[in-house]
Amino acid sequence: MELTVTEAEKLKDKPDESKLGFGTLFTDHMFSMDYAPDKGWHSARIGPYAPFTLEPSTMFLHYAQGAFEGLKAYRTESGNIQLFRPGENFKRLNRSCRRLCIPEIDEDFALDVLKKLLTIEKDWVPAQPETSLYIRPTVIAMDPYLGVRASHTYRFFIILSPVGAYYPEGFNPVKIQVTSEYVRAVRGGVGEAKTPGNYAASILAGEKAHQEGYSQVLWLDGVEQKYIEEVGSMNIFFVIDDEIVTPELNGSILPGITRDSVIKLAKHWGDNVSERKISIAELIEAHASAKLKEVFGAGTAAVISPVGEIKHGEEVYTIAGGEVGPVARKYYDAITGIQYGKAEDPLGWIVRVV
Ligand code: COI
Repeated sequence: MELTVTEAEKLKDKPDESKLGFGTLFTDHMFSMDYAPDKGWHSARIGPYAPFTLEPSTMFLHYAQGAFEGLKAYRTESGNIQLFRPGENFKRLNRSCRRLCIPEIDEDFALDVLKKLLTIEKDWVPAQPETSLYIRPTVIAMDPYLGVRASHTYRFFIILSPVGAYYPEGFNPVKIQVTSEYVRAVRGGVGEAKTPGNYAASILAGEKAHQEGYSQVLWLDGVEQKYIEEVGSMNIFFVIDDEIVTPELNGSILPGITRDSVIKLAKHWGDNVSERKISIAELIEAHASAKLKEVFGAGTAAVISPVGEIKHGEEVYTIAGGEVGPVARKYYDAITGIQYGKAEDPLGWIVRVV
């Protein structure tokens, strides 16, 4: 497919890299393309980052038929720009598309245009430690129609945002709260797709947790509210004795790429890692018998987010003395080391852009 490039007439000032938050600033250019049944995906273009108009009846706005991804571009010490397992993001985007009845996107083409966009925007990739350029590929249903069915037309776009830490805590332990009032997703639903509705479903519980001084919600399964599924918008890991455990993928858990990277690195190093069901009762029992050594979230935005405290009902459990544990530290250092080109890349995950 042909790609047209229109350069922005006026470039924005670059932000102060020491003050970057998450997801508030956007670069000068974006990628877009459209889908129509008779044309397939077409009109691939890089142009100025700009608002676009939507009919108020646009299906995405009403029924959330859409999917998105999140990945990052990293600047290495020598000034190169690189991606971490980007092919996995486009593969997952297509899995989400299939679940949401959205026509699939050519994964190689998407990666190719992303590299071109990043080459144009290379000066936007920050260099300060722990900063990166967050990449948000998104696909939305575009038909102006209020009936519930699959849209016939779609738009795919990629926007870029220079970011620092996702959580104000940075790589410091967060306090989380178990919710038994709400669930994030159920098996057979859309929990394993990266689709806006899952995030909308999580907001009320998240707000309530914030009001009580907790930064994230620990989600239990949507059927029995017995098994642990995710934390906030991340996957979750536990260290019980010497076993690193994460809930097995069951249809309602998002198959995180950071999750998969922890598992693959653990296997590569011969650490004892398992994907299995883990109940809240097992967690409490492991805490009572001092076997619960660490808890941490894993996701693209925060990489590894150690948990220092869990509130369940009226009980508050302190984890790892409220400090960052050695396993969370080891995986944080290993994954960020690979991402920023500071450590060896034993599993061939890095894709160089420039
Ligand atoms: C992640 O990367 O951990 C997320 O899913 C958060 C993102 C939706 C901002």
